Amino acid sequence: MFLVFPTLRADHAAPAVMKKIAEHARRIVYLSAASVADNPDEHAEGIIGSHARMERLVEQSGMEWTFLRPSGFAANTLMWVDQIRAGDVVRWFHGAATRSLIHEHDIGAVAVRVLIEEGHGGAMYHLTGPSQLTQVEQAHAIGEAIGRPVRFEELAPEVARQELFAGAPATLVNSILNAHAKMVREPEPVTSTVEELTGAAARTFHQWALDHASDFR
Ligand SMILES: NC(=O)c1ccc[n+]([C@@H]2O[C@H](COP(=O)([O-])OP(=O)(O)OC[C@H]3O[C@@H](n4cnc5c(N)ncnc54)[C@H](OP(=O)(O)O)[C@@H]3O)[C@@H](O)[C@H]2O)c1
Repeated sequence: MFLVFPTLRADHAAPAVMKKIAEHARRIVYLSAASVADNPDEHAEGIIGSHARMERLVEQSGMEWTFLRPSGFAANTLMWVDQIRAGDVVRWFHGAATRSLIHEHDIGAVAVRVLIEEGHGGAMYHLTGPSQLTQVEQAHAIGEAIGRPVRFEELAPEVARQELFAGAPATLVNSILNAHAKMVREPEPVTSTVEELTGAAARTFHQWALDHASDFR
């Protein structure tokens, strides 16, 4: 079983879901997140706290488990699709937040390996893309991929809360804004785990942008 779980929105259902899965599956690969601490006693809130609780449930399920803990998904930038299709500017928050964004194909490639090979039980794999980019640089890379300049316009976090996340649950919005503020001060690290597990270099964000250019046109 490869488990992607809609954290926060379905926490209440997690114990029953895990019990049902354990009746049918022998091995589980859980898609967690990079900031989850190795120490289970370390308290975390928001999305990361939710993943930490899910990891505990998976550990207690009796199945052979592996945690994939990816950095930010390159696909998060699809949130900019409407703005980029409509113009040449991304109005967003914390432009200096620096991420080691990962291509979904690399998460998939690792997941397949871990599911079909022996020897990954009990492993917690920190997966990232091959380099760090600020959000400003990500917008520029998308511009290069679609063949016209895209610029980044910084929004104050409170403006972003109202303009971009109106109606979204406060816990979720706080989690996103706080995480990005932190990544201005502490860029996401880069690991070589994707290459070690798959034998191929992790795909760059520029490659991701080329693969998704039609989404932004
Ligand atoms: N995005 C990141 O940078 C990142 C990084 C590390 C880990 N992760 C983790 O990876 C997982 C997926 O993240 P994502 O960013 O791809 O999330 P997402 O864009 O919100 O996608 C979540 C998926 O879950 C489905 N879903 C949501 N609520 C559901 C419910 N109540 N019942 C059944 N399905 C439901 C959604 O279906 P619909 O499309 O039909 O709504 C969607 O396919 C999450 O656990 C996230 O925490 C994400």
